[in-house]
Amino acid sequence: MGYQAHFRVWRGTDDGELRDYTVEVNEGEVVLDIIHRLQATQAPDMAVRWNCKAGKCGSCSAEINGRPRLMCMTRMSTFTEDETITVTPMRTFPLIKDLVTDVSFNYVKAREIPAFTPPAGLEPGEYRMQQVDVQRSQEFRKCIECFLCQDTCHVIRDHEDNKEAFSGPRFLMRVAELEMHPLDEARNRPEEARGEHGLGMCNITKCCTEVCPEHIHITDNALIPLKERVADRRYDPLRRLFKKKD
Ligand code: SF4
Ligand code: F3S
Ligand code: FES
Repeated sequence: MGYQAHFRVWRGTDDGELRDYTVEVNEGEVVLDIIHRLQATQAPDMAVRWNCKAGKCGSCSAEINGRPRLMCMTRMSTFTEDETITVTPMRTFPLIKDLVTDVSFNYVKAREIPAFTPPAGLEPGEYRMQQVDVQRSQEFRKCIECFLCQDTCHVIRDHEDNKEAFSGPRFLMRVAELEMHPLDEARNRPEEARGEHGLGMCNITKCCTEVCPEHIHITDNALIPLKERVADRRYDPLRRLFKKKD
């Protein structure tokens, strides 16, 4: 059975406002369906970014009742019928309009990570690695680049000044993935994570892991192992004495 829901949606740019709407909801719908209905019936100029409506493109990220989420994967059945549902744009990135933010910060950070660097002379097709190593990075490759983890991490969410020095959980995870690749030998990824990507600013609050729609264990499986490798390389006296590489 359908019902009328109360939505409160951010409209406009930085000096915009939360606007109230009463809108029809039908069984099985998700928040993105309701935003589309608002566009179709009451707010044709409302800006919203989406693509797949299947939790795979990472485009429809927003904050629903203050929590970073994919709009297309948030079922209306998780709210009570009399609840006001507030939808706002991701707070960590500059607002363009309504629910659409400029996420180019993330593309800048992605470009700062040097690509996979196999040993010189090894051609594609000659790579050999053990299944256990393949599986290790498989989890990280599920990332759909929704940037909800970036949005939620307090290091940049609450401190604009940190954006220059901190790449955020998604990209520290990328560094960890490369570090765990047995053929990525030429670079000192832990040192790059510490120096250029600001790994030390992460204080393991795990908020990034909590919001990840792909349920990637960002903190436990990427960030903490990377921190351990930094500690190993910098503070292990035997490693320093013999200048041992992994
Ligand atoms: Fe989104 Fe998870 Fe990838 Fe972060 S790690 S961008 S939350 S899918
Ligand atoms: Fe931020 Fe995740 Fe670390 S939320 S502080 S990157 S554990
Ligand atoms: Fe693609 Fe939501 S529309 S993840």
